Amino acid sequence: MWLRCGCAASLRVLASPLRVLGLRRCNTAAFMPESTGFGGVSGRSGLQEFSVSSSESFWAAVARHRLSWIRPFTAVQDCDLSRGRIRWFEGGKLNVSVNCLDRHVHTCPDRVALMWERDEKGSEVRYTYRELLEMTCRVGNLLRRHGVKKGDCVTIYMPTCPLAVASMLACARIGAAHNVVFAGFSAEALAERIRDAQSSTVITVNQGIRGGKILELKKTVDTAVQSCPTVQQVFVAMRTDSPVAMTARDIAMEEEMLKEDVVCEPAAMNSEDTLFLLYTSGSTGKPKGLVHTQAGYLLYAALTHRYVFNYHDGDVFGCVADIGWITGHSYGVYGPLANGGTTVLFESTPVYPDPGRYWDMVERLQINQFYGAPTAIRLLLKFGDEWVNKYDRSSLKTLGSVGEPINTEAWEWYYRVVGEERCPVVDTWWQTETGGICIAPRPSDPDAEIVPGMAMRPFFGIKPALMDTEGKVISGNDASGALCLAQPWPGMARTIHNDHQRFMETYCQPYPGYFFTGDGAYRSVEGYYQITGRLDDVINVSGHRIGTAEIEDAVNQCPAVAESAVIGYSHDIKGQAVFAFVVLKKNVDVEEADLSRQLNGIVSEKIAKYACPDFIQFVQRLPKTRSGKIMRRVLRKVVELDLDSLGDLSTLDDPAAVQEIIQEQSKRSYTNQAQRYDLFAA
Ligand code: WTA
Repeated sequence: MWLRCGCAASLRVLASPLRVLGLRRCNTAAFMPESTGFGGVSGRSGLQEFSVSSSESFWAAVARHRLSWIRPFTAVQDCDLSRGRIRWFEGGKLNVSVNCLDRHVHTCPDRVALMWERDEKGSEVRYTYRELLEMTCRVGNLLRRHGVKKGDCVTIYMPTCPLAVASMLACARIGAAHNVVFAGFSAEALAERIRDAQSSTVITVNQGIRGGKILELKKTVDTAVQSCPTVQQVFVAMRTDSPVAMTARDIAMEEEMLKEDVVCEPAAMNSEDTLFLLYTSGSTGKPKGLVHTQAGYLLYAALTHRYVFNYHDGDVFGCVADIGWITGHSYGVYGPLANGGTTVLFESTPVYPDPGRYWDMVERLQINQFYGAPTAIRLLLKFGDEWVNKYDRSSLKTLGSVGEPINTEAWEWYYRVVGEERCPVVDTWWQTETGGICIAPRPSDPDAEIVPGMAMRPFFGIKPALMDTEGKVISGNDASGALCLAQPWPGMARTIHNDHQRFMETYCQPYPGYFFTGDGAYRSVEGYYQITGRLDDVINVSGHRIGTAEIEDAVNQCPAVAESAVIGYSHDIKGQAVFAFVVLKKNVDVEEADLSRQLNGIVSEKIAKYACPDFIQFVQRLPKTRSGKIMRRVLRKVVELDLDSLGDLSTLDDPAAVQEIIQEQSKRSYTNQAQRYDLFAA
């Protein structure tokens, strides 16, 4: 049922009257078998309170119940956020690939583990648990035979496909860490990540194929490894039929896999050994390699997958994220496989070959939970309802959203048109750093209300806190502040690879004793959380996180550029788009259009296409404080045409710099912001 008042907060899926009376509380043990021993706990909110106040009992029970251990853990946790020390389930030994594969092969070997939705529509391939275990063992043996040892880090630069999943799990099987690099990153970005991770082994494919276009992944790896002295071997799998030039360090992967045994002894790993590194952007130019470890990460991914999406045995889970991002890791691979689920690997794009692709896939694969990004939903809603209605979506039970705020229009379309008002929409807030979902509308008591555009409720074990500008905890509701998490949880990242100091400075020191997320949030009168956006210089373009400093570093490498300032501005499909202010060196005589093209070329070569500026404005100088810091806050206001709230400009070294930029913009007398920027889009 809908109430329309035009504002997000009043557009609610209403709670049933029974729930309001408190009569429809769930049977806690039936809902969550792990909770049987939690005396006196009833209902979802009771469980949440228990998970936070008796965190050790909660996580111990869940870890014993949900994971298979080679040796039981002796301590549930040993954490001190103020010192950046985070350890869970110490003394325990386990193997993540055994948890994701072998134990399901024992009970249901022929259950489908992966449904690979290849780029070519209608050519999906299914892999059973038995088949995925065999493939993983062959890769594990292959890596071992080629000298990959426990503690090494293998870089994986592949499209979303079963062999990429088998490669991740093979690393886990033999005790190596993996470092998956999104296959849209450039050779330079790949090289930087290989060097930082000190990988001697890379796994790739000859070519990728996405949206019908060929991606020369092996060639990109060839270029990257030229500046990576650590790399000794590159395994090359064949995604397409086109042969590629092989060098002395390259190994034909499938051919060599055939020679390997289908049994591979799993390594007994300590709970706190590294499972993987995943690079993400921060507010400096250098991406950070977040470190996730074995038991805590897997447990958290599994538990959130089960309860946020209400995943049940036999369901088909469709997460359309690329494996190169944390969402692909936690909800494309580890969460569903730890739960013995069937997971879809989506290799294509939402509009290939047409805007019906997702829903055609939902019908063909009978997907029960669909998990996607707001940017794709916003894009698809523009193509109209016909593309959705053409297909049968009666299999759908839950719809999920991740990566960026979902605006009310997109939420409503997702709920009404895609889900036919039958399926709860879960707007899930989390980060690469958190390992899994931390705030989401579900799990909650049956029929509990869901407010559009709000992540709402903390997951089990999560205790959010909002901080004011003086660093004090805000206690009341109807308040906004910096979002922190007040106690550790098993899924959180442990450190930044080779840079624990940066981990401390970024997450632990801003609010001592708390984990700082970098996001702002609003807590409503009812106590629900709504994410208001980043507080640092990180922007979110089509759900892809990118630091403005990274883009500036690339732009500044152009010989004609003296300096630059990059900011994000609202974009109706991408969520945020990239705006670059560029100051040229004196006596540079180049056409602006040529220079814009050149700058875009540099950014896509140094980082990736998605990081390219949508708009470039050449200016004489940038607004700076007297200490020389660029005032990006002011530039953001100028770009958003919010000139009345430019704020205090008295700290500017030369306030005339802002006026110059405003005048330059107003010469272009367009009333509508989108129109202005589209017209001048670089
Ligand atoms: C943003 C993606 C609003 C947020 C899983 C966060 C969101 C960053 C939401 C992490 C959401 C993620 N609503 N904003 N539901 N989910 N974000 O590391 O700014 O790629 O800090 O992890 O995305 O991006 P990351």
